[in-house]
Amino acid sequence: MTVKFRPEIKDLVPYKPGKPIKDVKREYGLTEVIKLASNENPLGSSPKAKEAIIKCAEELNLYPDGNTTDLKEALAKALGIKPSQILPSSGSDEMVDQISKTFINSGDEVVMADVTFPRYLSTAIMMGGTPVVVPLKDFTYDIDAMEKAITDKTKLVWLCNPNNPTGTMFTEKKLLDFLDKVPKDVVVVYDEAYNEYVTRDDYPKNSLPLLDKYPNIIIMRTFSKIYGLAALRVGYTIAAEEIIENINKIRGPFNVNTAAQMAAIAALEDQAFVKESYRVNKEGKEFLYATFDEMGIWYAPSETNHIFIDAKKDCQEVFVELQKRGMIIRPIFKTYIRVSIGTMDQNKKFIELLKEVLA
Ligand SMILES: Cc1ncc(COP(=O)(O)O)c(C=O)c1O
Repeated sequence: MTVKFRPEIKDLVPYKPGKPIKDVKREYGLTEVIKLASNENPLGSSPKAKEAIIKCAEELNLYPDGNTTDLKEALAKALGIKPSQILPSSGSDEMVDQISKTFINSGDEVVMADVTFPRYLSTAIMMGGTPVVVPLKDFTYDIDAMEKAITDKTKLVWLCNPNNPTGTMFTEKKLLDFLDKVPKDVVVVYDEAYNEYVTRDDYPKNSLPLLDKYPNIIIMRTFSKIYGLAALRVGYTIAAEEIIENINKIRGPFNVNTAAQMAAIAALEDQAFVKESYRVNKEGKEFLYATFDEMGIWYAPSETNHIFIDAKKDCQEVFVELQKRGMIIRPIFKTYIRVSIGTMDQNKKFIELLKEVLA
């Protein structure tokens, strides 16, 4: 090749998503495959969102509303903030990209945890930033160490609460202490992809008031998890108007498609679906905890819709053996795997197959 690629992307590896059900069926000649690999909602999505998609079919010839006006207004109303503080994106994944493009210059330090959502690292490298990677402590964000990792070169800090893939959380007190100490010119991105699943009281349940006191915070949320709209790609960010205006400059003009906008508005209105998803997840988590305890399997306490467990066997081997039996999970590293919490039937099937594989 004589064309020259940007040196920053030389060592980047493409994001590895959870293996699709169709691929596993084809590879192993299976007819029944369960995927508990991508933290999707096992209940599907709100019927109201599906109705919105059908309506959207009448508008396939038209470009989406590039300003996502109705979605911003619906979110603003639901959250009690101004539409100008909100920016929807094509999944919060796209927002990770956009935030990195908006803030990171070559040589800027970007602080993040070592075991967390991988796109924080790849987008920092993509922009020529210097990742400063802070190890987890007991599989949980070590907020004190992250604060100590901040230098005068730090541009941005990524916080994921609760964390993917470990499912663990840090408390409201830890977050506030951290925000008080971080210099105001350092951007703190607070990724709340799983916040609706949290059961603990010491979690920062409502992060929105933080915007008043800490203008350097950016809150990211998604419709992919509890709202069950992963296929449509829609998430949103809340921040000070000046931050939103600047991110808005670099986004694609029609980045959130019409179906995603319409379904997100409908899904937001169906809080009964969200409530039921929370209930099923909590019940599934308690069942899995009790079964892991019986089996002597260690797990990290999860505040999400997935559980990080020590299979005590090479994670790739567990992944392949489960896959052969029609169950897709996520190998993480060493002997650790991550399993999404499914319906009770799916959870029971997972346990049955895990027992076989670990026997
Ligand atoms: C912590 C975290 N942030 C962001 C995302 C991206 O989600 P989406 O792009 O589907 O909104 C995920 C997806 O798994 C995640 O786990």
